[in-house]
Amino acid sequence: MRLDKFLGLFDIGTRKQIKEYVKNGRCSVNGVVVSKADIHVDENTDEISFDGNVLGYSKFHYFMLYKPQGVVSATTDGKNTTVLDLLQDENVKGLSPAGRLDIDTEGLILLTDDGGLIHRLLSPKKHVDKVYEVHLDHELSDKDIASLEKGVNIGDTKDNGEIDYTLPAKVEIKDCDKEGRPVVHLIIHEGRFHQVKRMMEAVGNEVLFLKRLSMGPLVLDESLEPGDYRPLTEDELKQLGV
Ligand code: URA
Repeated sequence: MRLDKFLGLFDIGTRKQIKEYVKNGRCSVNGVVVSKADIHVDENTDEISFDGNVLGYSKFHYFMLYKPQGVVSATTDGKNTTVLDLLQDENVKGLSPAGRLDIDTEGLILLTDDGGLIHRLLSPKKHVDKVYEVHLDHELSDKDIASLEKGVNIGDTKDNGEIDYTLPAKVEIKDCDKEGRPVVHLIIHEGRFHQVKRMMEAVGNEVLFLKRLSMGPLVLDESLEPGDYRPLTEDELKQLGV
């Protein structure tokens, strides 16, 4: 990784400021003061200091990916491109997606080798919020919204045979998309298989486009294009409790 990119993860300043700071001798790599911000460092093995403080680098790796449609949220697949295939420049050993999106769903995916974090984000007991942008076949009625917010029958049953209704959700109505299709944000706190599509089906609607916008405190960086990825920032890691 380039030194300025690495320093950029620590909220030290803008790229331009970082270049200036490095030029002024405030940064050292393995104890040697460096003057150029565009040199390459190995963030896993080099000791990088700024103003005398060693910048800690986690032994785990964390990437935010904007998953495009047509890509599977698996680590290997004989047929389709996987989310790991998109991390071309990285060592992907041990990385897994924290949760899955359908092949035709796009949006936020966290890729990490921190199994503890994956568990905390996906554990059904933790009820982590997930926000989806949903483009629908037709508008939701007030009754549909009330049902979705209370919990709907998506065909799941509990061990004792009772209907396993979805947990209460939140629906926010947004403007229509360019094709005039109604758009809503659906906020759910669980992650059942095809959950958003099945919830909309339960109220007689159909999902025509689906994008995950956030997962807990992690929000999809809108400057990323589908297929782009970047390491999480220090601030994002802090918010995730890492
Ligand atoms: N719900 C769905 O139906 N599909 C997804 O990909 C994610 C949530």
